[in-house]
Amino acid sequence: MNRKVTKAIFPVAGLGTRFLPATKSIPKEIMTLVDRPLIQYAIDEARSAGIKEFIFVTSRGKGALEDYFDHAHELENTLRKDGKTDLLELLRQTNMESGAIAYIRQHKAMGLGHAVWCARRLVADEPFAVLLTDDVIQGEPPCLQQMIEAHAETGGSMVATMEVPMDKTRSYGVLDVAEDMGAIVRVRGMVEKPRENPPSNLAVIGRYILAPTVMENLNKLKQGAGGEIQLTDAIADEIEAGRDVYGLRFRGQRFDCGSKAGFLQATVAFGLAREELRPEFLDYLQDVLAMRKAAE
Ligand code: UTP
Repeated sequence: MNRKVTKAIFPVAGLGTRFLPATKSIPKEIMTLVDRPLIQYAIDEARSAGIKEFIFVTSRGKGALEDYFDHAHELENTLRKDGKTDLLELLRQTNMESGAIAYIRQHKAMGLGHAVWCARRLVADEPFAVLLTDDVIQGEPPCLQQMIEAHAETGGSMVATMEVPMDKTRSYGVLDVAEDMGAIVRVRGMVEKPRENPPSNLAVIGRYILAPTVMENLNKLKQGAGGEIQLTDAIADEIEAGRDVYGLRFRGQRFDCGSKAGFLQATVAFGLAREELRPEFLDYLQDVLAMRKAAE
């Protein structure tokens, strides 16, 4: 029986330069998709997958992110007084159990691998999940749950993967596949942002379940692509050491909310997914398209 995954790391210490000037004062993870900050989508996904401990790796200027998880007593009292029970319930859903969240500081943005390594003492000797809040995934069951179910069978380490066009592989970590078993692939290597000869078109996206030995690999603090300490390299070291690494072709759609185009696409998809918004929003989108066509 493989050990249950109950801890998740959320690395949120990046600089978010692609969203400047907004990210000068707003953490990227607080940016709003429809009416919820990106971090809320990741938290909900982790919660529904059975995660009990939430470890945020933060940095300077991320205070708004920490405040977001505090109970908003004044606001709650006002809503209660006004009888706005639906809004109260909405707020209640964002409350976290006392002691469920831990914050660790990454003093310098030295890469995703380094951010994950900063949480090593909290993870200790357990398998753990890593969720990148930039990657917002529509999936049923949610992506991390699919992974936890698959990981219960396979053990080892597991990354979420999806097929991308070959010419886009240079933007991702890419899997070298040893054995393709359908939804699950066994991996024999991983390359971060290959400039040429990508080993496949299976890209790694921001959901991971990792064996505690990945933390030991990160102890080397080896610089990889772009001079950063890469999580991909530490996972690839697992394979070198003869331990199993798998990719899961998850069912669902992933949006890259770390990029402007991806964020806009997610806004459309999540806006249309909301029943109360769909009719008006769809009308608007159809009008925009019709006007563009007419202007051509
Ligand atoms: P990105 O590569 O998207 O970097 O990081 P970024 O700094 O967030 O954004 P841009 O590229 O400057 O716009 C992927 C994830 O890894 C975290 C980020 O917060 C994001 O969730 N990260 C990255 C860290 O926590 N620390 C780092 O040193 C680097």
